[in-house]
Amino acid sequence: MQLSPLQSRLAASVIASFLVIVLYLFLFAPRFAVAADFGHIPSSLDSDGDFYDIDDTVGSFDALGPSYEPDFALFDRSIIGRAPDGTKPLDADRPTKGNISPGNTIGYVFEVASVSGRSAQWPETSYELRRSLVGPRASADDEEDDELSEDSVVVARQASKTLYISANTCDQPGRKSPDQTTMDPPQLTLFVSTSNDNTSPGPDKEQGAQKAIVFDEGAVMYNTSFDGDVYFSISAPNVSEDYFSASSLYNYEVAVSLSGYHHSYDTVTQPNLYWVDSDTSSALLTTRNLTSKPNQVISTPPYTVFVQNTKNLNINGIKKSYCGLTNWAQIRPLRDGSSQATMGLRQGGVSNLTMQEFYITGLNASTNYTGIVALNTNSTLQKRQQGGSGGGVVVFNPIDFNTKPSKYLLINYVGTMLTLVSDGACTFLFNLTLCTETRYAVPGNPDKFPNGTALAAFYDEYTQTMWDNFDKVLQQTPCQAPATQKYSLARGCDDCKQAYKNWLCSVAIPRCEDFSSPDQSYLQMRNINKPFPNGTLVDQGIRDAFGQMKAYNSSRNLEIDDKIEPGPYKEVLPCDYLCYELVKSCPASIGFACPLPGSRFSFNTSYAVPDTDKKLSCNYPGSAYYPSSATAMGVSWASMAVLVLMPLLLAS
Ligand SMILES: *[C@@H]1O[C@H](CO)[C@@H](O)[C@H](O)[C@H]1NC(C)=O
Ligand SMILES: *[C@@H]1O[C@H](CO)[C@@H](O)[C@H](O)[C@H]1NC(C)=O
Ligand SMILES: *[C@@H]1O[C@H](CO)[C@@H](O)[C@H](O)[C@H]1NC(C)=O
Ligand SMILES: *[C@@H]1O[C@H](CO)[C@@H](O)[C@H](O)[C@H]1NC(C)=O
Ligand SMILES: *[C@@H]1O[C@H](CO)[C@@H](O)[C@H](O)[C@H]1NC(C)=O
Ligand SMILES: *[C@@H]1O[C@H](CO)[C@@H](O)[C@H](O)[C@H]1NC(C)=O
Ligand SMILES: *[C@@H]1O[C@H](CO)[C@@H](O)[C@H](O)[C@H]1NC(C)=O
Ligand SMILES: *[C@@H]1O[C@H](CO)[C@@H](O)[C@H](O)[C@H]1NC(C)=O
Repeated sequence: MQLSPLQSRLAASVIASFLVIVLYLFLFAPRFAVAADFGHIPSSLDSDGDFYDIDDTVGSFDALGPSYEPDFALFDRSIIGRAPDGTKPLDADRPTKGNISPGNTIGYVFEVASVSGRSAQWPETSYELRRSLVGPRASADDEEDDELSEDSVVVARQASKTLYISANTCDQPGRKSPDQTTMDPPQLTLFVSTSNDNTSPGPDKEQGAQKAIVFDEGAVMYNTSFDGDVYFSISAPNVSEDYFSASSLYNYEVAVSLSGYHHSYDTVTQPNLYWVDSDTSSALLTTRNLTSKPNQVISTPPYTVFVQNTKNLNINGIKKSYCGLTNWAQIRPLRDGSSQATMGLRQGGVSNLTMQEFYITGLNASTNYTGIVALNTNSTLQKRQQGGSGGGVVVFNPIDFNTKPSKYLLINYVGTMLTLVSDGACTFLFNLTLCTETRYAVPGNPDKFPNGTALAAFYDEYTQTMWDNFDKVLQQTPCQAPATQKYSLARGCDDCKQAYKNWLCSVAIPRCEDFSSPDQSYLQMRNINKPFPNGTLVDQGIRDAFGQMKAYNSSRNLEIDDKIEPGPYKEVLPCDYLCYELVKSCPASIGFACPLPGSRFSFNTSYAVPDTDKKLSCNYPGSAYYPSSATAMGVSWASMAVLVLMPLLLAS
């Protein structure tokens, strides 16, 4: 058919237009659907099924990117699938458990197709996608060129993502005998390959083509950037049948994520757990402040605590594994919700911040323990929207603590059974009425005060009497007077009251250490002429040397000796700055005075100088075994003490 020039130009332009439309539909039409579907994503995050359906539609979007993969909805994964047999696909943020027998390897693949377009999981990019898709294009269709380049930018940002692989060992082969202490069960190994040439990494493959990471105390964390599928495997070593029951399996949990490790352990920051004090059978542990302002509210205690007798080897090899500790730690939360650890939130301390406390009972006397705190932030929609790690577990560094020795065994002959009847003199005390910050072991006597309630009542009554007397005296000083008649412009009666309370609670309620604890400059022997509860006396040499001195042969307040009769003990001396602060804050007319450090003797038996190199160097409200120098809290306490102390030392 002959066409006139005009007709042929018309035909050409019709054909061109048609091609443009076809091209347009091919390239962009699916994305209108995407744009519409994106609106549903937040609600469909809850039900993962819907969400994955969307993935495939969005797959075409990646076709524009440099990391082109034929992941169209048309070709589903079963056609393209390259994963070798037996390799399990693992989706992001879906922790999976597995059993593995020694000497075997289990392979996994993280398919890049499983995340294409799961942009809602990456909040930053999701925002950009929405802007470029819904924003300009909906309003102006003729800016395609701009949008193309905009899209390329978006895709380019997606191209190099980081994959976080993490795993925890939940069970490991058991020891043949608990006495077998020479060897811990060997660790699992993670093998990772990002190359299609090595789709089943493992111990038998050439090491250059893969990365091998041995678990550390039952935990592994590895990240890699990826633009294709990532192959990895968990491999169990051969286990010596001489030492371990070879029939038993390893059990592990593995997870991949694009936003952070699902299983992590923290060896960099502080253990986040501190030992406050203990007596013969219980201990109090605390976290640092969980808040930074007094008015911040935390409703549920976030941490979990695990405690293990250091002689018990069950958690050796899995100390950084959350599920390992959950299965094997001696003291752990039980499935029925009970635990030997009672926990709660407490607001207090100098800054009036919230901390989480753990009161551990049922411990053995004179025993060393390890405490480990862990966090389980279950994955929630909220977390993801905030760009959080998508939930997971964090295990912190362990701390060591111990219990005090049992003072005496009263032996009951019931057949041949020996019964522990009485515990040591130092009894852990907390929950006092006036001295709310007092939470440590105090001189006690299990025969006269069989339970903490009765002992607390004694100290409460005693401190309350002292407080009432002080209050009467303070009322006679001109507190409410106009500024010109006040005793001090800088300090008021409230400062004086607070300083007196801090001093009174530290001085009237001695912090008790067992008499057997090694000598320290901050430990003062008390009551040494009295017999121990088992009837024996303190070493003759010590009694000859110090028995005549009041500071050694009695308690600081005689009522303790009269009413409690604790026997000999050692007192952790109060910090000197508590006294200086009292003298500075209260009217001189009340007549408080501190022993001068120059008068070395009475000073040494009454107060101790804070020492940042020691975990505990003197007693103050809220004292605990904070790591020397390193902690924020330890430092702030100590520097506060030095500030208070310096002017006085210089002046004297
Ligand atoms: C990723 O791994 C590298 C070394 O392999 C490491 O330096 C980096 O800290 C890791 N990133 C994260 C977030 O753990
Ligand atoms: C604890 O309190 C201090 C200030 O007293 C603050 O700087 C710190 O951030 C708080 N810790 C946490 C974990 O919020
Ligand atoms: C206490 O000691 C007994 C006997 O040695 C032991 O079986 C038990 O596990 C110990 N308990 C704790 C919590 O240390
Ligand atoms: C997270 O929470 C869901 C539902 O609330 C629960 O089924 C799942 O077991 C939890 N995961 C962990 C690790 O606690
Ligand atoms: C009595 O108790 C003291 C202090 O705990 C201890 O050193 C001593 O060995 C005990 N004596 C007897 C006979 O148990
Ligand atoms: C603390 O004492 C109050 C009453 O004085 C009591 O109701 C509460 O149960 C005590 N708390 C603990 C943990 O013992
Ligand atoms: C505590 O001891 C006192 C006697 O000192 C007794 O009256 C009281 O019932 C005891 N309380 C408990 C809970 O055992
Ligand atoms: C007091 O304690 C200091 C430091 O611990 C020591 O050097 C000094 O000798 C002691 N003085 C007396 C009299 O014990």
